Amino acid sequence: MVENLQARIAELKRAKNAVILAHYYCTPEVQAVADFLGDSLALSLQAQSVEADVILFAGVNFMAETAKVLCPEKRVLIPRPDAGCSLAESCDAKDFAAFKAQYPNHKVVSYVNTTVGVKALTDICCTSSNALEVVESLPKDQPIIFAPDRNLGSYIQKLTGRTNMVLWDGACLVHEAFSLEGLKRLKEAHPEAKVVVHPECKAEVVAEADFAGSTAAILTYCGQVDATEFIVVTEAGILAEMKKRMPEKTFIPAPTEDPTCRCNECKEMKKVTLENIITTLEEMAPEVLIDEQTRKAAESAILNMVKNK
Ligand code: 13P
Ligand code: SF4
Repeated sequence: MVENLQARIAELKRAKNAVILAHYYCTPEVQAVADFLGDSLALSLQAQSVEADVILFAGVNFMAETAKVLCPEKRVLIPRPDAGCSLAESCDAKDFAAFKAQYPNHKVVSYVNTTVGVKALTDICCTSSNALEVVESLPKDQPIIFAPDRNLGSYIQKLTGRTNMVLWDGACLVHEAFSLEGLKRLKEAHPEAKVVVHPECKAEVVAEADFAGSTAAILTYCGQVDATEFIVVTEAGILAEMKKRMPEKTFIPAPTEDPTCRCNECKEMKKVTLENIITTLEEMAPEVLIDEQTRKAAESAILNMVKNK
């Protein structure tokens, strides 16, 4: 029973002095046991102010690594260390170092969806919540490498009008799966609905948006705008929080290219379950461990972001 598992987790959190940080893309039952639920930026900021001895990160491995980089003195647990991210995996640190060497005068802005190895090659990290502010914090004439998401990069390039940005050619499989034709048909069937899109989607899909923004920004927009129906073009995990916060509104998930594959779900995020959270807290493992040299090298890029928010 879900309730019994959730009660056992509450007991273990008390016994181990642990908190659970979870991303909105986790399953609704995992979201329900989180002490703090957020998007990538909010979770990084929250990790810094945790007082408990132990952080269990319900999310993919780069998120737990970021928490460990920011809180080296804490025990950071990850129920499924194999929960990866197609975007982070599209940017190998060695290949990225060779790419960076071609642009010696460029500053590197990297999305947090990267390995610690890539963060160590980065001047300043960003998330989808603050990518615009981070890029604009650099002088207009400063050339920039933006990695690893080509879609977020070109979106920011369009917003800022910066021509001196080179983009790493990476992408998120989930956000790239949405169908432009399917979205257009859904818009015709629901002409009153507002379309909300994550900027990790392809440019032609983002172009259909009434609002484009990070997970947290989409939630805020849906709460504030005078509309009752929304077409949601991002990972389906956000729907649970939308329905919880706005039960009077209707949220329609946008179709993907292959309607049979549930490609609008990040399978990696869904690897975290109530059962593996219990085992992880009981055994206090698997734990995120990063050697101090790599941690230090990655830390300044994340701290530069946190300073900027
Ligand atoms: P945000 O949490 O910044 O919206 O990013 C979405 C995402 O894909 C996280 O992996
Ligand atoms: Fe990575 Fe995309 Fe999953 Fe986010 S939704 S964790 S970017 S694969």
